Amino acid sequence: MLTAVSRYGARVHPTTQQIVAACRERGEFIRGPQVAAFEQAFAARLGANHAIGASYGRTAFYFILEALQLPRGSEIILPALTFWVVPEMARAAGLRVRFVDVDPATFCLDPAALERAITEKTRAVVPTHLFGLPCDMDAILDLAARHHLAVIEDCAHALGATYRGRQVGTFGDGALFSFQTLTPLNCYGGGMAVVRDAPVAARVRARIDSLPWPHEKRIANRLLAGRLLRVFTRPRVFTFVGFPLYWIGSVLGAQPDACLREKVRPLRPLPDDYLERFSNVQAALGLASLDLLDGWTAATRSHAHALSVALGGIPGVQVPAEPAERTHVYYQYCVEVPKRAQLVRSCMRRGVDVEMRHVDVCPQLDLFAAERIPAPGAERAARAVQVPVHASLTDRQMRRVTGVVRKALEAAGPPGRPHVTEAAQP
Ligand SMILES: Cc1ncc(COP(=O)(O)O)c(C=O)c1O
Repeated sequence: MLTAVSRYGARVHPTTQQIVAACRERGEFIRGPQVAAFEQAFAARLGANHAIGASYGRTAFYFILEALQLPRGSEIILPALTFWVVPEMARAAGLRVRFVDVDPATFCLDPAALERAITEKTRAVVPTHLFGLPCDMDAILDLAARHHLAVIEDCAHALGATYRGRQVGTFGDGALFSFQTLTPLNCYGGGMAVVRDAPVAARVRARIDSLPWPHEKRIANRLLAGRLLRVFTRPRVFTFVGFPLYWIGSVLGAQPDACLREKVRPLRPLPDDYLERFSNVQAALGLASLDLLDGWTAATRSHAHALSVALGGIPGVQVPAEPAERTHVYYQYCVEVPKRAQLVRSCMRRGVDVEMRHVDVCPQLDLFAAERIPAPGAERAARAVQVPVHASLTDRQMRRVTGVVRKALEAAGPPGRPHVTEAAQP
């Protein structure tokens, strides 16, 4: 039987159940020695000075901002194309957010746009290694040094990516990593603050140490939600449950997964579960999974390269860029295609689930109405599609994905004027 391929594929350690059971048996589900062990292993792997576990990537970011002690009202520059929570957390930390456009070739922060946006009030910049591709760090670090800006790398998508042979997360004053279920290292939630200087790291550590431990139920629910997602994306279950929903959505032009996305809203005061510590069981899963990370990354990269070879050169198709000296870890394989809506429908009809939106064009959101800027690069990226290349796909499944996308592109025909409603889609 031909099964449908899900857009989602979580990286799951094969002994997850045993790791969780062992933490429970030892009475170390929430508190225990694995948090420190994971922090040390994570820092060592990156070649970073300090790593401190946090409840989310976003809280790691927030505590780094606090610890940098930037004057209230200072400006922080972020890419226009990112997850809306990140700029909102900067505002919660008392900073004024300024957006700049992304480079339309890489979808990462455009250094030229950054240079134009710097004012005498700018104190920090956030290079987001979007979809797993490192930003142009030489240009960004050069501007940051000239203008005395703190650099906080957003590595939520990019664990394992390198720039000139060096791991992302080690270039700036600080970096945030996310361990949500679909990220490169799945701990069913949680995050890591990576910090260069000891005094800043001590302040982040003191702040996190002052927080309460999460309730066991909360963490058990996160593990359960991750498990449900895994079950849902298993080929057979997905074929009969998830896929029909997505298929209907593609025909109606609706996005049934919109309800899975976090509602865009102000985050002040911060929600309670942000202000908690990282649990031992999640750290234990992260620690074990670090050993498998390189294998997962290699599988994803190999799928992505096969897809790029198959799609590169088709008129109107722009496969993801991987500039020299940067390794992309393809958290998302984001490809520009002509006639997007038609292509999505056509892939769905052939059993391949492709995603139309993954991050936000933040200046278009009402939440940031005061920070509107023209961002043609971000808008262009938001009109691309994300094709599954996750590590859990076998080579055979990947050949099928590749064949289906090629066929769908052929069926959609050469690029023409986009249909009006499609051009207007987010
Ligand atoms: C680009 C980006 N940065 C930061 C985050 C925040 O990570 P977390 O959900 O762990 O707070 C995300 C989450 O999806 C993200 O996509």
